[in-house]
Amino acid sequence: MKDNHAVPDLVGGTPPYTVRRSREQMVRDVREGLTTTPKQLSPKYFYDERGSELFEEITQLPEYYLTRAERYLLEKKIPEIVASVGPCSLVELGAGSATKTRIILDAMRENGCAECYVPIDVSKDFLEATALQLQADYSDVRITPVVSDITEPFAIPPVASPTLVVFLGSTIGNFPRGQAVRLLSHVAGGMGPSDRFLLGADLVKDPEIINRAYNDSQGVTAAFNLNILERLNHELGADFPVQDFEHRAFYSTEHRRIEMHLVARSALIVVIPEIGEIRFREGESIRTELSYKYDRATLEDILAASGLSMESWMPAGDGAFALALSRVES
Ligand SMILES: C[S@@+](CC[C@H](N)C(=O)[O-])C[C@H]1O[C@@H](n2cnc3c(N)ncnc32)[C@H](O)[C@@H]1O
Repeated sequence: MKDNHAVPDLVGGTPPYTVRRSREQMVRDVREGLTTTPKQLSPKYFYDERGSELFEEITQLPEYYLTRAERYLLEKKIPEIVASVGPCSLVELGAGSATKTRIILDAMRENGCAECYVPIDVSKDFLEATALQLQADYSDVRITPVVSDITEPFAIPPVASPTLVVFLGSTIGNFPRGQAVRLLSHVAGGMGPSDRFLLGADLVKDPEIINRAYNDSQGVTAAFNLNILERLNHELGADFPVQDFEHRAFYSTEHRRIEMHLVARSALIVVIPEIGEIRFREGESIRTELSYKYDRATLEDILAASGLSMESWMPAGDGAFALALSRVES
């Protein structure tokens, strides 16, 4: 990565670096989201510790093909990617439990260089637990967690090049095109010519398969979705009657995206002390997540608009998921 010794918005001289996330920002976002029509909340607010745990459960559901497909691709493709890039540092956006990341760290070690791993995530406690576990299992690798919101410009501590920057789990799908380009442009701006960016993305497919993945039979995705209201109750003192909201997720073929909503079962009024009264009509919803599905051309276009040029496209055999490796445009 390019030298970034300033790291101005990182707090504390030693890891874990933490960007101060202001409660005011959360209040502002929630006020804006719940007082506009249609109502919406950013999916980043899913991820308190409970939300991160629920997401881990989702990755193990039979219906949630994304994690299995990506893991399979990583196992197949990472050895050759690592051999050709020769990374000494690994930076990961939205790292979560970093379970699949171990495939990359193992390959880097085998290739003879695994100096540093920088997992970046907004879910502070979960990230710190992930980092501690990784440090115990990879004592020879410097693990430097960064708690940061990647929807804002974020800083990465100085790491040795070549760096492999990875963004897995199709988290990119949560960002409409403009936001995705803003985020990836920021990543590209920090990359040098020997660095590479590896993206994992879910692909357009039979809507039934996609719909099942977001409407699992055990109700884990529903619990994950509803947890955002529990979080607003805990952190902002809101009084959402969580049982009066229902999980709804559907695939829009027009927009090529899943939309996840929380639908009010009846007319109700919620009070959030710093915001005031929020009124819901029966059947009115809060949109909590978009998850775009891609094809190669769309992703290539987003990457190019961000200053990245796709070097390698690695789709799964059944076309469910793909990895894309890119470099900065010269
Ligand atoms: C869909 S999960 C993917 C987790 C993991 N990378 C995987 O592939 O299983 C999204 C991850 O990104 C993190 N995340 C979501 N929004 C974020 C944001 N705005 N800034 C930083 N991290 C974010 C979440 O906490 C979560 O760990």
